Amino acid sequence: MQLRNQKLAMEDFLRERAEVLQTWPTGKDVDFEDGVRYQLALPASKRFSAALAEAERDGRTLSQPRAGVALVDEHIKLLQFLEPSCDLLPSTIDAYTRLNHYEKAAEGVARSVEAGTSLLNGFPAVNHGLAECRRVVESLTKPVQVRHGTPDARLLGEITLAAGFTAYEGGGISYNIPYAKKVPLDVSIRHWQYCDRLVGLYEERGVRINREPFGPLSGTLVPPFVSHSVAIIEGLLALEQGCKCITLGYGQAGNLVQDIAAIRALRELGHEFFRAAGHDDYALSTVFHQWMGGFPENESMAFAVIGWGSAMAALAGATKVIVKTPHEASGIPTKEANRQGLDATRQMLNMVREQVFPASPVLDQEVELIKREVRAVLARVFALGDGDVALGAVRAFEAGVLDVPFAPAACNAGKLLPVRDNEGAMRVYEPGRVPLPDDVLAYHKDKIAARARAENRAPAFQMVVDDIYAISKSRLIGRPR
Ligand code: 5AD
Repeated sequence: MQLRNQKLAMEDFLRERAEVLQTWPTGKDVDFEDGVRYQLALPASKRFSAALAEAERDGRTLSQPRAGVALVDEHIKLLQFLEPSCDLLPSTIDAYTRLNHYEKAAEGVARSVEAGTSLLNGFPAVNHGLAECRRVVESLTKPVQVRHGTPDARLLGEITLAAGFTAYEGGGISYNIPYAKKVPLDVSIRHWQYCDRLVGLYEERGVRINREPFGPLSGTLVPPFVSHSVAIIEGLLALEQGCKCITLGYGQAGNLVQDIAAIRALRELGHEFFRAAGHDDYALSTVFHQWMGGFPENESMAFAVIGWGSAMAALAGATKVIVKTPHEASGIPTKEANRQGLDATRQMLNMVREQVFPASPVLDQEVELIKREVRAVLARVFALGDGDVALGAVRAFEAGVLDVPFAPAACNAGKLLPVRDNEGAMRVYEPGRVPLPDDVLAYHKDKIAARARAENRAPAFQMVVDDIYAISKSRLIGRPR
């Protein structure tokens, strides 16, 4: 296979489509023209892109939970219960569906019926099929997004988009590297070109579908430039296939200045790279994920983590925030805990909304640092791909130029090691083969040395380990006890 960042030829797409729709019986109910008609008939209040555009215009941050259970009626009840406390709704897909194990998902559905409770960790949309997915959309008043973690999400996309979901999360890198061990990167990128092409076909027919690359990646001490580089690549890949509404994401790091700088840099870099690639007809928004690493078990402590993330999302000016719950440390939340996370978040968003973080040289410097890092990495990605960003992304992972900390994928080098500095910002402890400029590397080294001095120890891998567990143990920085 020769991967290229080129719009898939219609005949190739259609040939592939016929195969995709045959991979599970519910695929045969999907009819594109019917999907377009259904989407066009939805009220604006259910269109994800409309809510995002309005929030961008008003400078508001929208809230969105994660939620999904095995059975349709229970899933509807869950989302109806959360709806009054949030602006945007999800349908979080179960792990079997994410792996395309539809037989296993079917067993899970059957056993959930017997047990009278959900035995899957999400909503198996492919198994339920078109009509049942439409029933979900029709039971709600707010826009719904498909949220998952699926390297091959082609059939899922076909079914849910035809069913009236108006936003689709994921990407060929961000739904591979943190989620799969052995899926070749060129394969997942190609599968996501299919998903993006499908979204592009809806766009051609006047149906706006929001596309959101998954920002936080492994969720474990990911420096902003790493996730921004991936987000921008996935944005470019999506735009090439005809997507028009892109939300770039970032997972909270925990340091005030770095998190505000990260969202600002993400937005500005997005425009910079999209326009440089010749795209000008698109809508760009941002999403801030509340802390994606380990949470404290104590629910009051968890609320503090949730609150800090909400404050940061609002101060950073993110278009939406993905919300955690007080049950994060223990697993899938009850619907009550889920709503508590949303209510805590809403209170904070409302209180911070009118406030502006003052312009400051420190903030500008951090924005500039992230931009220089991303530009350096992406320049190498393009060079490795002989100008092609899809090919470049595959080669860059092979070369360790793109390197996501603590990700399970075999094709990820895992040589880059992050650590917090003395104020808790993510810095690069060991760059591996990531091509950061020398003065940038020296800056990271100085910041880490300052922390080491304050802690009276030498910079060492133990610091990284301490940082991974710090927040769950009630601190941002993993200081020695
Ligand atoms: N319902 C609610 N939250 C979920 N998560 C994963 N699946 C579900 C679900 N079905 C959450 C995890 C974690 C994040 C990655 O997604 O709790 O916070």
